[in-house]
Order: sequence, then C-alpha cells, then structure tokens
Amino acid sequence: MSYQKSDLGAVLENPRVSGLSIKQAIGDKSTPTPSDQDFVDTPDYAEFKKQMFKKSGINLNLYKQPQMHRRLLGMVERANKKNFIEYFQMVDTDEKEYAAFLDRMTINVSELFRNPEKWVEMREKILKPMLEKKSSLKIWSAGCSYGAEPYTLAILLEQLSPGRKHTLHASDLDQKILAKAKEGKFSDADVKNIDAATLAKNFIKLEPSAGSFPAGFGAVHQVKPEIRAKVSFRAHNLLADAFESDYDLICCRNVVIYFTDDAKDILYGRFCKALNPGGVLFVGGTERIFDARAKGFESLIPFFYERIS
Ligand SMILES: C[S@@+](CC[C@H](N)C(=O)[O-])C[C@H]1O[C@@H](n2cnc3c(N)ncnc32)[C@H](O)[C@@H]1O
Repeated sequence: MSYQKSDLGAVLENPRVSGLSIKQAIGDKSTPTPSDQDFVDTPDYAEFKKQMFKKSGINLNLYKQPQMHRRLLGMVERANKKNFIEYFQMVDTDEKEYAAFLDRMTINVSELFRNPEKWVEMREKILKPMLEKKSSLKIWSAGCSYGAEPYTLAILLEQLSPGRKHTLHASDLDQKILAKAKEGKFSDADVKNIDAATLAKNFIKLEPSAGSFPAGFGAVHQVKPEIRAKVSFRAHNLLADAFESDYDLICCRNVVIYFTDDAKDILYGRFCKALNPGGVLFVGGTERIFDARAKGFESLIPFFYERIS
C-alpha cells in the first residue's frame, strides 16, 4: 500500500481548537454530537492536542472528547505531572512514555473470529458469492490491532479457496501493536471461538515460555507461517492517511466507536470510495451506519454494507 498524508489530514487539522467542528471545516452545517458539545477543553489539554498532532499526525479532536480526555488525564496523574503541557514534554522526549501514551489512547481488545455468528455470515453470504465471481480478492482489515481479524480472514479464505492468492492488507495506528500482530501469537482466550480442527490446522501450540505473555497466561497459539505470509501489515492512520482503492471487502470493526460522529461520517464516505462497486464494508456489533444510502451503501444484512454508488 502506498500511504501519503491526504488532503483530509490538512482539512481536519485541529478544527475544534480553531473553534470549528469538523463538519463546519468541510462545509457541513449540521450540529456536532451532544457529548462533544458538552465537553470544554482546558487550555493545557487543547495545547497538548495541538502539539501531539504536530508530533504524530494523530488528531485527538476526532476521538470522542470526554472519554479520551478522561483516559489521558489518568496518564497525566500517573506520571505525577501538573498538567497536560508537562505531560507532553515528557512524552515528547521519552520513547517509552510515548509508547505508553499510544497504548492508552488506542484500545487494542480483539480476538479471533470475534462475534463468531458474524463470521459464519461472512463466510456463507459474503466471501462464498464473491469467490464465485472473482478468483482473487483485495481485502483490508482497518484497525487490526494485534492481528486477530486479518488472520481470521486469512484462515477463512484458505478454507474457501485453498492455495489461491488474495491481497490481504491489515493496518493500525499503533506500531507497537503491529509488531505483535506480525508475530501472530494468541492466548487461549483469543482462540476460544475456534474449533479444534481449525486450530490444529492453522496454529502451532508453543510452550508458554515461548510467548511474550506473563507466566500463568496459558498456552500460546502461533499462526502457522504460511497463513501469516498471506497478510501484509502497515502503519496507517484512518483519520489522516490516504486510502488505496479497488477493495472487495473492508473490515473496520470496533474502531470507529471511539471517533466523533463527524469523523465517522467522513470515514464511511472514504471507505465507500475505497471499495469497488458491489464491495462490502463489515463493521462492529455496535456500529450500525445510519443513513447508509446517503453515504453510498445499502445494508445487506446487519453490519454488512454494500457499495451501491
Ligand atoms: C478495539 S481494536 C479493534 C480490533 C479489531 N478490529 C476487532 O474488532 O477485534 C481498535 C483498534 O483501532 C486502532 N485505531 C484507533 N484509532 C485509529 C486510527 N485513527 N487509525 C487506525 N487505527 C486506529 C487501535 O490502535 C486499535 O488497535
């Protein structure tokens, strides 16, 4: 994937600090979400967000404000800093603290075949018909965390079209989590939705000492190298970087729940353009797209949206 900063990144550069909502910044006059409306920046937090955007390209204004502020305030207090300005000075100069900040602001919870019934639908109603029409699919797992979602897709594709080559991109904002994703090591809890035969076929069971998990964590299941080789992982910020196009399927689950409504709207529009006509967007169990048609989608079955325009 070739990623460059898109115009969107510039358009969205800290609009709230400059007194504009994101939609206002791009010419939409509808009102911001109540939760964001109620939230008032303190000057030190506003300055922190500005400096963090300059440092990392991460625009914290596009995340739900009260929740993000609460999470990060906990970091300021834990680090014994007087305010967000002092906290930024520390994060800016200490790589470990910057990694800890990223860890806190991104929520990495995941598991293989998360919401298993949805993956049955994915196999039967989405992938099977797609594979009848096309021999090779281009798929993106956006906000992939430690890799459970793209490996779930890789396993399904191999079951449905053994030996066939597909393009399977996986991306996340968090470089540290991507390093973990590439290893493809999972805990007992991560693999709880996988039947014994699928587990044996696609994973190697390692001695607990071989994993990066604490003692007593249970077994470590590593995705076999041939399945790992099917996924290409990249760092990518959904709220700033350019998107590739021609995808047949995009999975973006349990990521946008942390974004403001304005950011979500823009993102869904961009996902639509990144899909081929007839391509499908798969979202998380709490992420129904309201007014899907206006964004270029038709709801196929709950949480699966087809690009119609
Ligand atoms: C809860 S995990 C979801 C993992 C997986 N999609 C699933 O449903 O199990 C959310 C992920 O979104 C990532 N994320 C948050 N903001 C992001 C952004 N702006 N661009 C890309 N990824 C982002 C986080 O780093 C985190 O790994």
